Formats: sequence, structure tokens, C-alpha cells
Amino acid sequence: MKIFLDTASLKEIREAAALGVVDGITTNPTLLSKESGEPEDILVQICETVNGPISAEVVATDAEGMMREGRHWAGVHRNIVVKCPCTTEGLKATKALSSEGIRINMTLVFSATQALLAAKAGASICSPFVGRIDDIASPGMEVVRDIVQIYRNYSFPCEVLAASLRHPMHVVEAAKLGAHIGTMPYSVFTALVKHPLTDIGLKKFLEDWEKAKKEMGAKAAR
Ligand code: G3P
Repeated sequence: MKIFLDTASLKEIREAAALGVVDGITTNPTLLSKESGEPEDILVQICETVNGPISAEVVATDAEGMMREGRHWAGVHRNIVVKCPCTTEGLKATKALSSEGIRINMTLVFSATQALLAAKAGASICSPFVGRIDDIASPGMEVVRDIVQIYRNYSFPCEVLAASLRHPMHVVEAAKLGAHIGTMPYSVFTALVKHPLTDIGLKKFLEDWEKAKKEMGAKAAR
């Protein structure tokens, strides 16, 4: 599974990218609004930090406006994938932009029916929002499972991006279900590496090594 970071923070992106396991970035208007600076400048810097798909979302709500914004974003940097919301207008824009060769990440997907339409409209990525489905007491991962199965059944060339992942077990579940991509906040990303037994084990190895070195030193001095 590809790992994307769901943030527009360059600090977080730089720190995570240094590990060498980040495949792409998803942003949205909310995430960009938290950062200081021009959204376009921030996106260019993100593209120059991570060489993978970087989602930039349109804010128009009509198809014409989305197409205009989508073409603009696609021209800003080769790494940019245009995010369109899963509405009737978003589907029209997705069909038109994907026919022009522009990659679309269909966002705000909450059902398998929406995902089916996203793939048929030519989206290259479809983003079900797992956590937000969980928030309304419905199992978000079941939507991911359904979408993965439907895309497999028909060999749709559309990747399932499990979004709105809120904790490490969401990441594990998404990977078990065969989601192609999981996007997560920096806090979830950093939690993926942590394990108390790793820390305890490492401490013990280092203590034993120090002990052995001292003993060897003492032997040599005799
Ligand atoms: O990728 C979508 C994500 O930003 C939404 O996450 O936690 O606000 O539902 P959340």
C-alpha cells in the first residue's frame, strides 16, 4: 500500500519524507487554510519535496469552474493530481479533465455507488473518507472493502485511497482490504513506527553491549 500524508504542513512533510517511505501527499482547502502563505506556493514546495502524486482540490462547485481550476492546477506542476468532489458537477468535470489526460482524485466519497461513478468518469484515484463514515456510526471500512471488490471485478484502473484515517488500526485495516493508498495525518504516520517492545529491546541490547565492552576492556587490562 502506498503511504500518503494528509497535510499541507511543509515541516511535517519534510520530516516524514526524510524516512523515504512517503509516496504522495493529499491536501484540501481546510488543510491549506491552516498554513501561512499562498496555497499555490505551498503546493509547489510540496511537489518539490515529495516526488509523487500531490492532490490539489478545486473549490468551484460548477463543472465549468472545476475544469478551469483543474487545468490551472495541472499546469502548476507535473506531480499535481486534481481533486474534484463527488457531485454531479464533479463527475462532469472529472470526465472532461480525465479525457484531457489530467489525473483526478475524486474526493468526498462516502459510498460504493459514488465510487463506481468516479471510476466510470475516469478518476485515477477515488477517496472514501473512512473516519467520517465511522463518525456517523456506520462502518467506513466496509465502504473501502466494497469499492476494492468492485474495482477488481471490472479491472477499473482507479486506485482506492483510504482517506480520513484517524489511527494506526485504520491503516492496518485499509492495507488488509487491499486499498492501494492510505492517507493519514502526520500524527498517525509517526505512530506507525512506534512499539514499546522495540524501545525496551533496543535499551537492553545497548546495555548488554556496554557491559560486554567493559568486560572485554577489563580482560585486556589483566
Ligand atoms: O483526506 C481527507 C481528510 O483530510 C479528512 O480527514 O479526519 O478531517 O475526516 P478528517
